[in-house]
Amino acid sequence: MHRFLVVNGPNLGHLGVRQPDIYGTRSMDDLPGILRGLLGERAETVKIEIFQANGEGEIIDRLERAREEGIDGLVLNAGAYTHTSLALADCLAWIGLPCVEVHLSNVLARTEEPLRQITLTGKHCLGVVAGFGLDSYALAVAALLRHMEQQ
Ligand code: DQA
Repeated sequence: MHRFLVVNGPNLGHLGVRQPDIYGTRSMDDLPGILRGLLGERAETVKIEIFQANGEGEIIDRLERAREEGIDGLVLNAGAYTHTSLALADCLAWIGLPCVEVHLSNVLARTEEPLRQITLTGKHCLGVVAGFGLDSYALAVAALLRHMEQQ
């Protein structure tokens, strides 16, 4: 059984309610169903915990704990901290857990807000999935599984 931790950062506690035109109408409760749809029986090989916090420090505390707990992989949507938080990037750099960065929106296409095209955390991740709404998370889990199989 693979143990993955999904970490959602600030303003991601109200998915489905927050700006649905940008972030979609589905909530994190829909993730298990989406995962089953994408992964089929392989979804049973994954145990997923979902964590959300608005504070940078709380997120870093949870990531450090994930390392101690021996979590196998991370799916991280750091929200706006993606673009601003050197502290979060530093944390990913040292904890050494395989991480896939996700975004609901296609941050690269939000050209009216150039800051969103910068990710400080992305270089410490295996890769980035952006623009597929909640499916981004399921695609990230699939990518983590593939990574584990290749180790
Ligand atoms: C986001 C994109 C970020 O720019 C934004 O601050 C968010 C959500 C996304 O999932 O599309 O809070 O990470």
